[in-house]
Amino acid sequence: MSTLEDKTLEVSNDAVNITEDVASKGGGDQGGGGAGGPVILFFIVGLVASLIVGWGLFPKLLYSQKKQPVSFNHKLHNELVDEGCESCHFFREDGSYSGVPTLAQCIDCHEEVNGESEEEALFVEEYVAKGREVPWLIYSRQPDCVFFSHAAHIKGAGMDCVTCHGHIGESEELKVYEENRISGYSRDIWGQNIGGFKKNSWDRMKMDDCSECHVRENVSQSSVQTEKGACFVCHK
Ligand code: HEC
Ligand code: HEC
Ligand code: HEC
Ligand code: HEC
Ligand code: HEC
Repeated sequence: MSTLEDKTLEVSNDAVNITEDVASKGGGDQGGGGAGGPVILFFIVGLVASLIVGWGLFPKLLYSQKKQPVSFNHKLHNELVDEGCESCHFFREDGSYSGVPTLAQCIDCHEEVNGESEEEALFVEEYVAKGREVPWLIYSRQPDCVFFSHAAHIKGAGMDCVTCHGHIGESEELKVYEENRISGYSRDIWGQNIGGFKKNSWDRMKMDDCSECHVRENVSQSSVQTEKGACFVCHK
């Protein structure tokens, strides 16, 4: 967040410099009788203001920030468990994906508080002791109309978690969850960059991002543009 604020600050500082520049130039021109000075000034002030609103303010207003109920440390736990990611994220017998773990997968180790950490104490007192599931916020959650199967991608295509999720699995704390105030979707769906640029495959997971890879990988009937039945691959 600090970088965003810094940027806004930079931009507004620039704005002040530019307006000063233009103001002094405009003053010099006035002898020639041109109305160009004030017009350019208004243009630049307007441009800068809309940049501040568009880059700085709008994303802040559009997304509300939510803290996860407990900060889970993936790095620490990967070293403690026997089967890596699969200790907590695995396929059930019927092929469906277990997704986010339930208390049952934590309780063997957390019946009591192990260490000094406040997060662990919070987890044990508020959830384990009361038998309440942790209401984790799911970064990658798609709208209900979307059908997604981990089996097709992991077992079928042998893909790596990082391709779609980034490095959450190796992180030491969970990042802040950002919820779009209009759609209610997570920011991970619509993308970090509101300009629409994407650096990593996991920066965004909108419809076009799914189908872009499907077209590239030549998944049967995947081309959204060309085939009518294609919608039903991802919308049941
Ligand atoms: C001891 C259990 C445990 C282990 C081991 C574990 N995770 Fe997790 N993982 C969790 C919990 C709890 C969450 C819930 C937090 C959340 O909603 O993001 C989570 C969330 C995630 C998410 C975020 C899903 C989302 O969209 O919100 C990803 C991705 C993930 N884990 C990947 C991995 C990978 C990759 C590994 C192995 C390198 C791994 N995890 C190992 C417990 C575990
Ligand atoms: C294999 C045993 C084991 C399992 C399974 C396990 N934990 Fe832990 N967990 C530990 C240990 C050991 C610590 C370290 C305690 C310390 O020294 O601070 C810990 C620490 C934590 C902490 C504090 C982390 C921090 O940042 O300091 C939280 C929160 C936590 N666990 C939640 C969970 C949740 C949620 C699950 C189930 C999805 C889970 N644990 C599963 C052993 C386990
Ligand atoms: C092709 C992209 C892709 C790959 C590869 C992938 N995921 Fe996911 N994952 C998703 C999408 C999309 C969702 C959201 C599904 C939904 O909302 O229906 C998701 C959801 C999740 C969730 C959230 C929980 C839930 O209840 O559905 C967890 C946890 C998770 N993935 C872990 C993993 C792990 C661990 C791996 C690697 C073994 C992995 N994913 C590989 C795309 C992927
Ligand atoms: C990085 C590449 C990639 C991304 C991103 C991706 N997929 Fe896929 N998807 C694949 C591949 C490869 C297969 C084919 C798997 C196989 O061979 O069984 C597939 C298969 C599927 C299937 C099964 C298709 C069938 O014909 O059975 C569905 C459904 C699906 N993907 C939905 C999605 C959705 C929804 C998203 C976005 C949220 C998504 N995928 C993102 C690569 C990707
Ligand atoms: C490769 C998977 C995939 C295919 C194929 C696909 N969609 Fe989607 N669609 C998604 C995903 C993921 C979302 C949610 C993210 C978003 O809005 O971009 C979505 C969202 C939508 C939404 C918005 C729903 C909402 O709640 O916001 C509509 C409408 C839609 N799709 C229509 C279609 C139609 C019509 C087709 C066929 C021409 C199609 N989709 C094909 C993956 C797919």
